[in-house]
Amino acid sequence: METNKKTMLSGIQPSGDLHLGNYLGAIKNWGGRSEDYDCFYFMADLHAITVRQNPADLRRRTLTQLATYIACGLDPEKNTLFIQSHVRQHAELGWVLNCYTMFGELSRMTQFKDKSRKNADNINGGLFTYPSLMAADILLYQPDFVPVGADQKQHVELCRNIVQRFNGVYGDVFKMPEFYSTKEGARVMCLTEPSNKMSKSAPEGCVFLLEKPEDIARKFKRAVTDSDTERCVRYAPEEKPGVSNLMNIYAAVTGKTMDEIEREFDGKGYGAFKPAVGDAVIELLRPIREETERILADKAYLESVYKNGAERAGYVAEKTLRKVYKKVGFIPR
Ligand code: TRP
Repeated sequence: METNKKTMLSGIQPSGDLHLGNYLGAIKNWGGRSEDYDCFYFMADLHAITVRQNPADLRRRTLTQLATYIACGLDPEKNTLFIQSHVRQHAELGWVLNCYTMFGELSRMTQFKDKSRKNADNINGGLFTYPSLMAADILLYQPDFVPVGADQKQHVELCRNIVQRFNGVYGDVFKMPEFYSTKEGARVMCLTEPSNKMSKSAPEGCVFLLEKPEDIARKFKRAVTDSDTERCVRYAPEEKPGVSNLMNIYAAVTGKTMDEIEREFDGKGYGAFKPAVGDAVIELLRPIREETERILADKAYLESVYKNGAERAGYVAEKTLRKVYKKVGFIPR
């Protein structure tokens, strides 16, 4: 890999099946980044087990996610794609950074409070120290930017505090990473409750990337439109959140402007509009689904991708870890 490019890194937890919101909001834009950046993307399986996972589901999702990324245009030759647990330096640096992260800081994390509420029977130590592991994920690769959703900003800020604290004691060990907001893509809302973001937790309002065309068609036919009287396709996010969400999706998929869409469905009403959006999404997802299935069936290829990825990632990670071990006073073996 070239070294004069800036570096980007992001991790995705394989804790749910990917959906249209993930694709239009994020994944769609990733492929092009490798022109300008050295990109590292990993499946954050170490993070996923902070919430109880069914082992077979975790395995299936980890591999499916990897295959889907490739199918969506993330070229494994141009991006380092790997599985977090394959690069043991994450857990090792995670431990070290735990010792440079304050109880008070971790207590303030809103994701921890949130997940503690949702998993009240399993508030484990990993859930609490999750941000130190995330800081390790980041700092092992010395990235310039960390592209993540707004919900992860607080964790990146904590990582920056750790850098300051650690570098303050040991000199310039870590490069200071920057938060990079990933809201460049379309914000896709739930089809049944358009005031919420599309999410796997409301499956009837959520279109999964690998879903069958007939299921996608059904979900769009049943999508909530608004109880206004004009019944026309007009972009008005405040007044008509359901229709506007469908228009956003249609625009993102077809590249048409809102004006063009309004003209296309002028006088046609919702009965024609909803299935048209469904059809456009079905055609968008068809090649992604077919390609994902093809890649998943090619076990040897998939294995070669994650082995190569782990090797490339491990090489970079080991250099950082060795430096850190030396700085804190561990004896080299
Ligand atoms: N915490 C992130 C999330 O839930 C996933 C993640 C783990 C991550 N390690 C990371 C993201 C490092 C960016 C960098 O979405």
